[in-house]
Amino acid sequence: MLLSRRLLLVAGKGGTGKSTIAAALALLAAREDKRVLCIEVDAKGDLSHQLGADPPGFQPRVVQPNISVLQLKVEDSLQEYLHIYFKVPRLARMTPLARVFDFVATGVPGAKDMLVIGKIAYEEKRREANGSPMWDMIIVDAAATGEVLPQLRAARAMLELVRGGIIRGQVEWIDAMLTDPTRTLLTICALPEEMPVVEAIELHDRARAETKIGVGACFLNRMMPVSLSPREEHLTERLAGDGERTALARQLGGDPRPVAEGALLAQRFHHNGLEHARRLRAGMSVPLIEVPLLVAPRPGLATTRAVAAALEGAAA
Ligand SMILES: Nc1ncnc2c1ncn2[C@@H]1O[C@H](COP(=O)(O)OP(=O)(O)O)[C@@H](O)[C@H]1O
Ligand SMILES: [Mg+2]
Repeated sequence: MLLSRRLLLVAGKGGTGKSTIAAALALLAAREDKRVLCIEVDAKGDLSHQLGADPPGFQPRVVQPNISVLQLKVEDSLQEYLHIYFKVPRLARMTPLARVFDFVATGVPGAKDMLVIGKIAYEEKRREANGSPMWDMIIVDAAATGEVLPQLRAARAMLELVRGGIIRGQVEWIDAMLTDPTRTLLTICALPEEMPVVEAIELHDRARAETKIGVGACFLNRMMPVSLSPREEHLTERLAGDGERTALARQLGGDPRPVAEGALLAQRFHHNGLEHARRLRAGMSVPLIEVPLLVAPRPGLATTRAVAAALEGAAA
C-alpha cells in the first residue's frame, strides 16, 4: 500500500535506517517498473551510498535502473526557483544573490522550509514533453525529526501570509498534495531502543496534531531475528551453566559456553525488541513493519537489497 503513493517521506531519528529504508523502498518500486526519484534532504550522500553510487548533487542522477537520486540543499533550491519563475540567471555563490539568499533564508520565517518542500513538489509536478509525469514515485529521505515538521507545515503557514498571486497558487497546490493521503504519506523509522521509540511516537503524535499529512506506517528496524523456543532456551541455559560444562567440553573438544551465552544474549535482544514493538503498537495508529537486523556482506547496496527483500510484501 505504501508503494502506490506518489510521494513517500521517510522520517525518524538519525541512525534508525532512514536512508537504507528509503533506498530499499526505491528498489521495490523500481522493480514494479516505476520511475523513482529519491531525494535526500540535508544531504550527506548516504542515500546514494545505500544505492551503490556516489553523491549526485542537486540535479537528479540515475544510480540504479529506474532510480534517480538528488541531494536537496536549500541554497540550490532558491537558485532554481528564482531561475525558473523569475528568470534570474543561475549565479555563483559570491554574488549579490548570496546576500539575497541570506536575507530570504534567515530573515523570512519559514522560507528555508518552504524551499525544501517546494523543490519536492516541483519534482512531483515535472512532466515529460508528452505530458506524462517525469517520476512515478518520489521517496524522500527526510531531515532530522526536529526539522521535518516545520517543513511539512511550511505550505500551510505560508497560505496565511500570502493572499494572492503566483506564489499563492503554487503554495495551495503544494499543501493540497501533501495533505492528500492517497498521494502523500509520511512513514517513521524506529529501532528497538528507548530513545528512537520515544521519538517515533512523538513524531507520530505531532504529525497528527500539527499537520494534515497522512501517517502511513512505522518501520521498526534492526529487530533481532534469532529466537529460541522455551525448550531451546532451557537447553542453552544448561549449556551456559557450570554443571554440564566439563563433561560436554570434553566430548566437544572445547568449551561450549561462549556459544550458549551468545545465543542467550540474542534471545534477550529478541525479547527486548518485542517489548519495544508492543510500545510502538500501543502508541501509534499505523501499521508497524518490522525489519530484521541483517548480517549483510557489507554496508551499502548489499544491506539495502537485503532490507528490500525483508520489506517485500509489507510495503507493496
Ligand atoms: N536492518 C538492518 N540490518 C543491518 N544493518 C542495517 C539495517 N538497517 C540499516 N543498517 C545499517 O545501519 C547504518 C545506518 O543506516 P542509515 O540508513 O544510514 O540510517 P539513517 O539514515 O537513519 O541515519 C548503515 O550502515 C546501514 O547499512
Ligand atoms: Mg541517513
